[in-house]
Amino acid sequence: MRLLMQHMNDIADMRDVAVHAAKRAGALLRDSFGGRREISYKGEINLVTEMDRLSEKTIVSEISSAFPGHSIVAEEGANIENGSGYLWVIDPLDGTTNYAHGYPQFAVSIGLEYAGNIVLGIVYDPLREELFTAMRGNGAQLNGTTISVSRTSDLIRSLLATGFPYDRANCKENNLDYFNAMIMVSQEIRRNGSAALDLCNVAAGRLDGYWELKLRPWDVAAGSLIVREAGGTVSDLSGQRFSIRDELIIASNGFIHQQIIDALRRTGDSEPSTK
Ligand code: IPD
Ligand code: CA
Ligand code: CA
Repeated sequence: MRLLMQHMNDIADMRDVAVHAAKRAGALLRDSFGGRREISYKGEINLVTEMDRLSEKTIVSEISSAFPGHSIVAEEGANIENGSGYLWVIDPLDGTTNYAHGYPQFAVSIGLEYAGNIVLGIVYDPLREELFTAMRGNGAQLNGTTISVSRTSDLIRSLLATGFPYDRANCKENNLDYFNAMIMVSQEIRRNGSAALDLCNVAAGRLDGYWELKLRPWDVAAGSLIVREAGGTVSDLSGQRFSIRDELIIASNGFIHQQIIDALRRTGDSEPSTK
């Protein structure tokens, strides 16, 4: 019991550092939002800006100086391997395409994995000043207030979200078949352009469900814990427990989860495998 309490206290200290880092990076993103961007391309439509890199540098330097023994992986290249068992999984700017266009939907996402579980999730939306937090076993909060998923129980009454992979033009597993099927059996589908915020919006009961293919661990590490801690369900296509390294994520309020799985499985898209 004492050990468990100590572990929770340690994670709470880590949360405070991560919140500070997310808010600092978020403020930088907010201050430069709408200005001219230096854009380079990782693929034909997959872009990166100087602000992705500055945000990552800010977060990584705060976390690595507070916890020099911890491992870190972040989207724009930070990769520190240490033996502590703690792995920080960071998306310094989720919603880069939105950000580069001045479209106001983006966030900073910081997850922490320990012994194979995500134990801490922080997502910060600097424009709305919304801070989503979750510690494993401790519920999910928005700006300190507990949040929970919606109670919608029919898919046809559900507001969903999804996204499309950057290789959509060259690969059949591009989510279009899934989208075509789901738009017929749900109330509406949104494509907001930030997986981390889509997950947080499921957690806050603003969306009833969400699915997406080919995301990376930093897109979903924090948000998947926030959904679970808000009482929702996160799984792969078989309904099994989701890993941040899976190729398909389904997150929902739980009530419509099986209906989403059934609808996706009825479509012609080939099923992506676990990486
Ligand atoms: C992207 C966003 C988007 C999702 C993409 C992600 P990025 O992350 O989360 O909503 O559809 O697949 O890669 O590139 O803006 O960090
Ligand atoms: Ca991302
Ligand atoms: Ca990113």
